[in-house]
Amino acid sequence: MRAVLARGRMGARPEQILYSEGMIMAKTVKTIGVLTSGGDAPGMNAAIRAVVRVALGKGLKVKGIKRGYAGLLQEEIVDMTTTSVSDIVQRGGTVLYTARCLEFMTPEGQQLGADICHKHEIDGIVIIGGDGSFRGAGKLSELGINTIGLPGTIDLDIACTDYTIGFDTAVNTAMEAIDKVRDTSTSHERCSIIEVMGRKAGYIALWCGIANGAEDILLPERYDGDEQALISRIIESRKRGKAHYIIINAEGIGHSTSMAKRIEAATGIETRATILGHMQRGGAPTCKDRVYASIMGAKAVELLAAGKSNRLVAYRNGMFVDYDIKEALAMTKDIPEDEFNISKMLNLR
Ligand code: ADP
Ligand code: F6P
Repeated sequence: MRAVLARGRMGARPEQILYSEGMIMAKTVKTIGVLTSGGDAPGMNAAIRAVVRVALGKGLKVKGIKRGYAGLLQEEIVDMTTTSVSDIVQRGGTVLYTARCLEFMTPEGQQLGADICHKHEIDGIVIIGGDGSFRGAGKLSELGINTIGLPGTIDLDIACTDYTIGFDTAVNTAMEAIDKVRDTSTSHERCSIIEVMGRKAGYIALWCGIANGAEDILLPERYDGDEQALISRIIESRKRGKAHYIIINAEGIGHSTSMAKRIEAATGIETRATILGHMQRGGAPTCKDRVYASIMGAKAVELLAAGKSNRLVAYRNGMFVDYDIKEALAMTKDIPEDEFNISKMLNLR
């Protein structure tokens, strides 16, 4: 028997994945379904491809479920072959499409979803998405469908994992865009507020703030709302001769346009707001997103083949591990204090 994944830390203990060719499975899975749900993220295609190819390689059947839980309830289910996933590892978005589905949040919708899985002989399912999608996965597991979740979101806001599929590409995309804004901001000696995505979390803002050498980084987890202090820092910086002032503002704080107007009025420095928006969710995945998503997709199939259910594949402390979905959803995480402190030390305005 081979130990494939190992240990981690924090409240919930990740499990080692133990399996061998001859292992007696808790529940034999013959057909695996795969869907993407919630916001798309670059690397989802690499994960789908890995699920399909690894499962087919193990002699399992694979069905693609289009448009997340909405497509499941509409029976938008197609057979996947090894060529269904050709030429997608390098593409952003998700070839299975994604959607949000209110009906699946009701017990009736969840039961219908499980019934449709049974009808199509789907006894195991891989759900690639965020926390909301995993809540749905937990429900399907309770209804007898073996479920494995893969963390797919640019926001990095899934507590049990240090990595989520899409974050690396999104921060690289945002970083390049911010560099461009910085060029023009410097030429015009302006202040620029650049708003990045992340829902309620500030991970994208923090990473871009460090990578782009921003003068200020506003994170929902840390911002005290003291705009007067921000204005004073901008004025001081200009007095010291700094041509530009780049503020990375997280979506969770928002209001970049009105903030820009107030800053311009208070400082006399021309100020522009740029909201990067959905461009951060598109584009070819980075090497890291392709590789990690592929590994996670493969791990999901290994878990299903070992008869596991209600597990979430994660990456913690340099290892690929898996957690019980309920325990994973109960976990919390915060911006790493050392990263935040370093970002402050680097912002010598
Ligand atoms: P994400 O998965 O990125 O967090 P959402 O929160 O929008 O995105 O959730 C995606 C989908 O997951 C929802 O549209 C819904 O179908 C399903 N979902 C969300 N929360 C639940 C829940 N509590 N129970 C069952 N399904 C849920
Ligand atoms: O969760 C990914 C994300 O892009 C968030 O950063 C953002 O808040 C949200 O999705 C936007 O969702 P929509 O595409 O529905 O506007």
